[in-house]
Amino acid sequence: TKYWKVNINEQRINKQLTEAATLLLRGETVAFPTETVYGLGADATNEKAVKKIFQAKGRPQDNPLIAHVATKQQLVDIVDKYNEYVDKLIEAFSPGPITYILPSNGTCAANVTAGLSSIGVRIPDHPIALKILQIANIPVAAPSANLSGKPSPSKANHVWEDLQGKIAGLVDAGPTGVGVESTVIDCTGPIPVILRPGGISKSEIEAVIGPVQMDPSLHNDSEKPKAPGMKYTHYSPEVPLWLVDGPVDKLQQIVCEVREQGKRVGVLLQNKYLEQIEADAYFSLGENMSEVAMNLYEGLRHFKKENIDLIVCETFPEIGIGQAVMNRLRKAASKII
Ligand code: TXA
Ligand code: MG
Repeated sequence: TKYWKVNINEQRINKQLTEAATLLLRGETVAFPTETVYGLGADATNEKAVKKIFQAKGRPQDNPLIAHVATKQQLVDIVDKYNEYVDKLIEAFSPGPITYILPSNGTCAANVTAGLSSIGVRIPDHPIALKILQIANIPVAAPSANLSGKPSPSKANHVWEDLQGKIAGLVDAGPTGVGVESTVIDCTGPIPVILRPGGISKSEIEAVIGPVQMDPSLHNDSEKPKAPGMKYTHYSPEVPLWLVDGPVDKLQQIVCEVREQGKRVGVLLQNKYLEQIEADAYFSLGENMSEVAMNLYEGLRHFKKENIDLIVCETFPEIGIGQAVMNRLRKAASKII
């Protein structure tokens, strides 16, 4: 795996990103940062290249990928005629952490869409991602650059941990900004449907185009999700996680009970609660919800180095980015109390 440490202010970045883009054009896989999480990219028009993504991640074949493009024109080039409200969404939120599910025109390889007639497309809001996409000048299929089932990578060392030796390159530009993945919104019907909450919230979207729906499976486990990827166990840390809804003394009581059984407990909490809790290991999610989103995946990965038997994490209000955070935590948790 070729590794580039890049800095947008350095002259050599052009040469580095040209090397990365050249690998993509040759049909190889390259991991790069976006504003949400690191993605594992391959030429979306090259079926063999896309296959390498599925192999490196151990990703189920029926889970479609998002095509990343640098401009609206490149988005238009890979989709069929779409609903009018989509232009308003693009205008308001792209580049940004939102993925539009649109009718595909067949430009991208069949394994990008896992055989579906629709395709997920997004314009990432990250200078490095945009530069690579501009230089390569192709749509780049990119899922999150983690092993399938693991927490997504918000730092380059997470990618290295999971995929070193399995991919052709890794562009390291430090931690990503948003920390959780893009909002996936199905725009194939008259009323858009959020399939995965993410970096852009439902209320931000509704402020632009009026009422949108949430995929019923997000709130009801017996419903089948419309985004194939949402049905898998996801974001699982290597140590079991309990999600505890309640005041800090309820959390403390649960931590105490588990420790009395001789188990070591790590707590994943906002700064303000950390000092109030007695446990075996601590990870701070920060001061506010945008910090919580940014630190979440690092937190889920952190405790495997700490010889811990159980992670206990608090719940968060499901407003704004809190919807995405709680969606990921519910999927990561082995128990919700
Ligand atoms: O922020 C992000 O979206 C990151 C960065 C790298 O861009 N990417 C990402 O990709 O999270 P991935 O593959 O981990 O998640 C894509 C999600 C999956 O749940 C997948 O099932 C869904 O989008 N998806 C993709 N194409 C779809 C389609 N045509 N119809 C329904 N769901 C689709
Ligand atoms: Mg993923």
